[in-house]
Amino acid sequence: MCGIVGYIGHEDAKEILLKGLEKLEYRGYDSAGIAVNNGNGVHYFKEKGRIADLREAIDNEVEATAGIGHTRWATHGVPNRINAHPHQSASCRFTLVHNGVIENYEMLKRSFLETVELKSETDTEVIVQMVEYFVNNGDTVEDSFRKTLKELKGSYALALLDNEDKDRIYVAKNKSPLLVGVGDNFNVVASDAMAMLQVTDQYIELMDKEMVIVTRDSVIIKNLDGAEIIRNSFTCELDASEIEKGTYPHFMLKEIDEQPFVIRKIIQRYQDEQGALKLDEDIRGAMQDPDRIYIVACGTSYHAGLVGKQFIETLAKIPVEVHVASEFSYNMPLLTGKPLFIFISQSGETADSRAVLVKIKALGHPAITITNVPGSTLSREADYTLHLHAGPEIAVASTKAYTAQMAVLAILAVDTARTKGIELDFDPIRELSIVANAMEVLCDQKEEMNQIAREYLATTRNCFFIGRGIDFYVGLEGALKLKEISYIQAEGFAGGELKHGTIALIEEGTPVIAIATQEQVNLGIRGNVKEVDARGANSCIISMKGLESAGDRFVIPAVHELMTPLVSVIPLQLIAYYAALHRDCDVDKPRNLAKSVTVE
Ligand code: M6R
Repeated sequence: MCGIVGYIGHEDAKEILLKGLEKLEYRGYDSAGIAVNNGNGVHYFKEKGRIADLREAIDNEVEATAGIGHTRWATHGVPNRINAHPHQSASCRFTLVHNGVIENYEMLKRSFLETVELKSETDTEVIVQMVEYFVNNGDTVEDSFRKTLKELKGSYALALLDNEDKDRIYVAKNKSPLLVGVGDNFNVVASDAMAMLQVTDQYIELMDKEMVIVTRDSVIIKNLDGAEIIRNSFTCELDASEIEKGTYPHFMLKEIDEQPFVIRKIIQRYQDEQGALKLDEDIRGAMQDPDRIYIVACGTSYHAGLVGKQFIETLAKIPVEVHVASEFSYNMPLLTGKPLFIFISQSGETADSRAVLVKIKALGHPAITITNVPGSTLSREADYTLHLHAGPEIAVASTKAYTAQMAVLAILAVDTARTKGIELDFDPIRELSIVANAMEVLCDQKEEMNQIAREYLATTRNCFFIGRGIDFYVGLEGALKLKEISYIQAEGFAGGELKHGTIALIEEGTPVIAIATQEQVNLGIRGNVKEVDARGANSCIISMKGLESAGDRFVIPAVHELMTPLVSVIPLQLIAYYAALHRDCDVDKPRNLAKSVTVE
């Protein structure tokens, strides 16, 4: 979602800001802007559309060594130039960019800004007008900023310029992510470290309800009572090459191909020198205690959670419930006496999941976050973190994080079972190695997937995915992948459930992709395929070696029956990818979507 960058140093700020914004493009946005401060006032440029459009709009004559930038994913007000950030106060003295949602902006408008004519439909503009309101009433800029922050309800990451002071950027955060990067004679601000890795790998974490005054050679962090806070920087371990596409046409394809490597890395990271599973002792302890585990997640991570439930219940014998975070936060189920929460989130910043985490922490329940970003909000705020080690995932459609989530959940389930003394005939390291090899075989069969996409999906309006048991969960993920990047209406169903309503939608030629990797339900799912075929469907069975039948469209290599989701999803990811290409869609940046969903 929205992304923020800021720079104050001695170089021309425009190019550094634009490059930073380009690195944030993957988060999803529909307009972008920058503002620079050069002592002759603040100059801002903003445009609807891509950063490339913004580049065109910039006056290169304007030179400045301080500035802020923003990519906007519209929440309040349509995506247009007026609603794009930066926003300015009435006198144009203050200029601001904001990520998040101010819940009480209507009330603030009525209380403080009755006489001010607002130019945009955004909640953001209220913030910058309030800073000016307090300054007009005699407060210093710092006090005005602080007073404004104290009035805000909701989430924000903010960067503010004052055209009477080219030597400072005022910064603050609450719930939305923001980091300050430290350099030699310059400092930067960024929603995530990737944006400014071009200039520094040293970052300072900011906590909620802190404000920061950033100058060329200092970073002063304060709480909202004005007390100074000292915090060291950390080195961001990201390698800049990990966030480049290299020779790939799209990040999604690169990330699909990285999956065998990620699984091998997980094996390495969760195994000690003697070959035993290696897990934080505190996590081990936490997993021994609960009478029920509640997995909370959104989208693809939720689908990984469904598979995780199978792992934990089958192997560690602990009952598990899996919940969509956005529902859980206002419709909390009756909890058992000793619950343990597991949050699954690639980004670690998903606001819906965080809202649940805040609630259950207030109730005193323990939480583990499984994430790809260990320093993220969900990671910091949970008691324990399990790292996915998948490397940065840039494409909006999640692929390698999904398979990494399932791999880590399998390791967690087995480790818990072993610690409980449960004897298992399942070696996760061996099974994951087989998975990695199978993934490699599948990644080499792209032309076959391209052919399936062309044949079944190039012109269709809709598509159904069916499966039984664990295959049903993979069907849900296959449908999500397809709809989010190709815009084909796609749904996943439990095979046996079709006849209770959905089969009414099957027409001549409707594509139905069936996943058949489970011996126990192999006959059942094939029966469901016959039912849809009898009504004219264009069915495509993806089965597993050993369970295949004549006429199956594609057969994946054999893996342990619990591990099949990590492998059967690869053809579905590739089919979605090629379907999107055949339909001329923007694979890495699908419309209306954001990578990191930081609003509820
Ligand atoms: O970062 P998270 O895993 O918390 O994100 C959750 C969902 O927003 C995410 O999985 C989304 O569904 C993806 N675009 C799916 O490809």
